[in-house]
Amino acid sequence: MELQGKNVLITGSTRGIGWGLAQAFAKEGCNIVLNGRGIVDQALIEEIEGNGVRCVAVSGDIAEFERAGEMVKEVETTLGPIDILINNAGITNDKLVLRMTGEDFQKVVDINLGGTFNMTQHVLKKMMKQRRGAIINMASVSGLMGNLGQANYAASKAGVVGFTKSVAREAASRGITVNAIAPGFIETDMTACLTDKVKEAATQNIPLQRFGQVAEVAQAAIFLAKSPYITGQVLNVDGGMVMQG
Ligand code: NAI
Repeated sequence: MELQGKNVLITGSTRGIGWGLAQAFAKEGCNIVLNGRGIVDQALIEEIEGNGVRCVAVSGDIAEFERAGEMVKEVETTLGPIDILINNAGITNDKLVLRMTGEDFQKVVDINLGGTFNMTQHVLKKMMKQRRGAIINMASVSGLMGNLGQANYAASKAGVVGFTKSVAREAASRGITVNAIAPGFIETDMTACLTDKVKEAATQNIPLQRFGQVAEVAQAAIFLAKSPYITGQVLNVDGGMVMQG
């Protein structure tokens, strides 16, 4: 897909990987929709507009189905149809499974997987009518290989992978691509809370021997958005942690 002038909605885009995606797609000439649970800082909107593109913000929790629908409608009214949806927003709440409450489990699944479903369903309706579009879902290596203390998170991200492949099959006849990115350890607020000891141990399991940068995830998203013949795939951006063939 030619990216210039396309409308891109990125959930959870006020910081971290989402913010990096917003900056990268704006540099490609895309109009950007920022999303966060709270009010989006005007300075972020202005920074994106500095690329000569339009930028709007919608505030709301992606885990709430009706609010997700309202946000999509708000965007369609102000900016027009969404060409690219990036389901990026996600949370962790790490605990060993024996200490995890039902609520600890459910909340992570509701946001990471439920939110991806909510936003996709609302956006896909128009995309199917338009017969064009790209959806990119943020999975994780945890969803592919499991991770100690992340039964809730890994389950939600494995769900995102299955969801991606199913929707890719349903939307393919309309020329819409649906793919996932599985980042490894990327330097953001989500990984900033890890102790130096945990970071060192993690780095030992990364063949490229370092954490990834947000811009390196954005590069993969731009590649997928531009690729009309790639669908139903999981692209790992993980320094080689998971090698699948
Ligand atoms: P982050 O914690 O820095 O940012 C997440 C963003 O999502 C924040 O802006 C937050 O406000 C927003 N958000 C959370 N729940 C939301 C909700 N219910 N509704 C709307 N917005 C919500 O996280 P980071 O590191 O940028 O991660 C982005 C995505 O990449 C997540 O899905 C995460 O699981 C995934 N990921 C991150 C990795 C990393 O090493 N940082 C590794 C693998 C996957």
